[in-house]
Amino acid sequence: MTDLLDAAERLSREELEALQLERLRATLRHAYDNVGFYREAFDKAELRPEDCRTLADLARFPFTAKTDLRDHYPFGMFAVKQSQVRRIHASSGTTGRPTVVGYTERDLDTWADVVARSIRAAGGRPGHKVHVAYGYGLFTGGLGAHYGAERLGCTVIPASGGMTARQVQLIQDFRPEIIMVTPSYMLTLLDEFERQGVDPRTTSLKVGIFGAEPWTEEMRREIEERFAIDAVDIYGLSEVIGPGVAQECVETKDGLHIWEDHFYPEVVDPFTGEVLPDGESGELVFTSLTKEAMPVIRYRTRDLTRLLPGTARVFRRMEKVTGRSDDMVILRGVNLFPTQIEEIVLRTPHVAPHFQLRLTREGRLDALTVRAEARAQATPDQREAAARAIAAAVKDGIGVSVAVEVVDPETLERSVGKIKRIVDLREK
Ligand code: DLL
Repeated sequence: MTDLLDAAERLSREELEALQLERLRATLRHAYDNVGFYREAFDKAELRPEDCRTLADLARFPFTAKTDLRDHYPFGMFAVKQSQVRRIHASSGTTGRPTVVGYTERDLDTWADVVARSIRAAGGRPGHKVHVAYGYGLFTGGLGAHYGAERLGCTVIPASGGMTARQVQLIQDFRPEIIMVTPSYMLTLLDEFERQGVDPRTTSLKVGIFGAEPWTEEMRREIEERFAIDAVDIYGLSEVIGPGVAQECVETKDGLHIWEDHFYPEVVDPFTGEVLPDGESGELVFTSLTKEAMPVIRYRTRDLTRLLPGTARVFRRMEKVTGRSDDMVILRGVNLFPTQIEEIVLRTPHVAPHFQLRLTREGRLDALTVRAEARAQATPDQREAAARAIAAAVKDGIGVSVAVEVVDPETLERSVGKIKRIVDLREK
């Protein structure tokens, strides 16, 4: 295995930290010299790039928020001339302007390298066929996976998202070993395999590399069993590069190793912004260490996780993301994440792994209805029992009362990319 690792994966912790500090100082300098936003922010905090003498000094520098990127729409955060920008991506935010990101030639090279490293950590090898069902386009999923797989020496099948029946056909005909797709769309594919009368356990697939949305250990078990594959987690966000910021290793499946030679992680208290020690849960913050076109300094991801020591690699791990602060529902004073409901629904007999959360307002209080889909064979009694079991598990486990509706099979909207779990029916 070690002969497969690239040079950075073989560094010692000390060597890695020295490299990080050198790259961090260069990045702060690059951002300060070339991005008005960072120059102003550092000046306001009375800091110069050279005030960062140790990795811990980074905590003195100001954060960057998604709104800062929006305020400088479209290209105000770029640190290079437009003629040096080779590619633009954008993430569609639910409201208002999209967030725009740019890449130089070297950034695209770095990105392909980290995605190649991710696919290798997932068990991919040169010569494998990789079916990419992340969407192609402004979303970073499709093209990010694509160039990473090519960089590793794989054969890429650029399926993109949608046309589900055709995806199933392609998987049967082209016989890929690897699939890269959102976990929710993998479930849509699962249904389609069954609809076509093909046992999903008999496909050529060996590994699924799933990300772009939160998913739970229960979901991993469901996918692994029903497809007879290894399911591993890939994490990333456009602002930092796209997919390939962190990846779970197939041999340990114990959280995601952050490719720390390119992306420096911190976890902070989401309310005070104070840096938390490794092991404590909070909001993940990233500083890019090698990006040219759009360096980010202390970018607040709003993703909640904690940092853990490396296992299969020297890099620190992040625990599977349990949710984004944006997706947190506050119900009568209790915080609830869709992943908590996912765990419960997937453990409940007679319901399929498809569910939706509907938020309504009753008088002055918010109410939540969990809609879960019955399995095809479930009897009315079994459906009733499932609804009661889900409500009881939510009450016991999360501490809040919710309504549960077990609806007919194939009635909830299916994902073709990132799934939207929460339907907010409250009047604004
Ligand atoms: O979703 C990049 C990506 C594509 C990652 C394909 C993995 C695979 P954005 O559209 O900018 O980029 O959305 C980033 O998605 O801040 C998280 O909230 C969420 N996210 C991404 N990966 C995971 C994951 C891509 N493995 C946002 N687990 C992030 C949980 C994830 N959430």
